[in-house]
Amino acid sequence: MTDIRQNTILIVDDTPTNIRILFDILHDTGLKVSVVKSGEMALNKVLLIQPDLILLDVMMSGIDGFETCRCLKANADTKDIPIIFMTALSEVESKVKGLQLGAVDYITKPIQVDEVRARVNTHLALRNAQVQLRNEVQERRQAEAKLQQILKELQQAQMQLIQSEKMSSLGQLVAGVAHEINNPVNFIYGNLIYAHEYIDDLLKLIQAYQQCYPNPVSKVQAILEVIELNFLIEDLPKLLESMTVGAERIREIILSLRVFSRLDEAEVKVVNIHENIDSTLMILGHRLKPKPEYPTIKVIKEYGELPLIECYAGQLNQVFINILHNAIDVLEESFKLAGSAHTSPTIWIHTELENNYLIIRIADNGQGIPEEIQSRIFDPFFTTKPVGVGTGMGLAVSYQIITEGHNGSLHCVSQLGQGTEFVIKIPLKQT
Ligand SMILES: Nc1ncnc2c1ncn2[C@@H]1O[C@H](COP(=O)(O)OP(=O)(O)OP(=O)(O)O)[C@@H](O)[C@H]1O
Ligand SMILES: [Mg+2]
Repeated sequence: MTDIRQNTILIVDDTPTNIRILFDILHDTGLKVSVVKSGEMALNKVLLIQPDLILLDVMMSGIDGFETCRCLKANADTKDIPIIFMTALSEVESKVKGLQLGAVDYITKPIQVDEVRARVNTHLALRNAQVQLRNEVQERRQAEAKLQQILKELQQAQMQLIQSEKMSSLGQLVAGVAHEINNPVNFIYGNLIYAHEYIDDLLKLIQAYQQCYPNPVSKVQAILEVIELNFLIEDLPKLLESMTVGAERIREIILSLRVFSRLDEAEVKVVNIHENIDSTLMILGHRLKPKPEYPTIKVIKEYGELPLIECYAGQLNQVFINILHNAIDVLEESFKLAGSAHTSPTIWIHTELENNYLIIRIADNGQGIPEEIQSRIFDPFFTTKPVGVGTGMGLAVSYQIITEGHNGSLHCVSQLGQGTEFVIKIPLKQT
């Protein structure tokens, strides 16, 4: 706004002649002119019309010009409005005082038309330039804030892409390994049954020979002693049994790997959630086992009776992995801090139904989360882990998957020094 004809000016004076002269001069210039006759009225009027300039008489009945000026300068809404005092030519002291109170200028009485015009024009132009500058600064600040926001969203999107890319390649790797191991293990597992039968047969044959020929020739006798036949007969079935158990275990692992690798499945599936949790635990198994510097992390499962659940299975696995990873991290950390005083690092996984919702609680007895950061743990990029260890995206992504992806809720309850529990709640059906 550079055209001063858009500006409003407020005259504060209690002398009718002055008011008339000033009104005529300013009105002729094209300004919107308002008039009040006392300081009190000025204070009210200013709030209503927000003038661009105030012409303020010093000597008035009621509160004088100085006091009015002081009040205007003390109010954040009016302190920036320029004020020009009107004083008698001889009152040098008043002029100085007015300027000290924050006035921008003064006009001398009796009023000179040209002087009023010149001073008013100058200060309105200044005022307008100032307002324009302030608006520009504000606009720039807003644009900057918006850019910052966009940048944050972009970084967030990028991190989510990286996370899901990581999970997806982990899923592909796991699926590939499971597929490759599946066939050879089936050879072993399938043939173990026949090996069992053949060995039983051979043992029966040997026993029959021993009964029919209790005193074998010396060559056979020598071999019998070398191979310790009695021990062999006793040990062989045990050996076969443990091979069968081992092969069965490998088959279970492969099944878990297959469940876990449902990662890429983009559409809603009906799944057994316990299978999913178990497969995730298996993937994390190496971090639960004892290490030279940490004991075993115990996992206590408290699984309720659950129906099959409609969900994005791969995404839910990602949530389980993120929450369990954090629990393992904090348990290792707590153990490091407390040493053997922390005797049993434990994770509890509890599932139950509540109305038409599935509730999954994953709790740990780590050191807990300080109250002042509890509200921030779901923020993207919030991490307390060293640079390069945590990205701070685990819980942010999990939160999004549960709330937006599954119309559910995810929250955390934590007591410092006691532990932390994450509660996932999702509807049984995704509609
Ligand atoms: N079970 C827990 N016990 C204590 N603090 C936790 C627990 N889970 C999360 N936190 C806190 O919340 C923060 C954010 O967790 P989040 O999983 O989002 O990121 P991160 O684990 O630091 O990094 P990453 O992106 O690698 O997962 C953690 O840095 C940690 O301070
Ligand atoms: Mg994490």
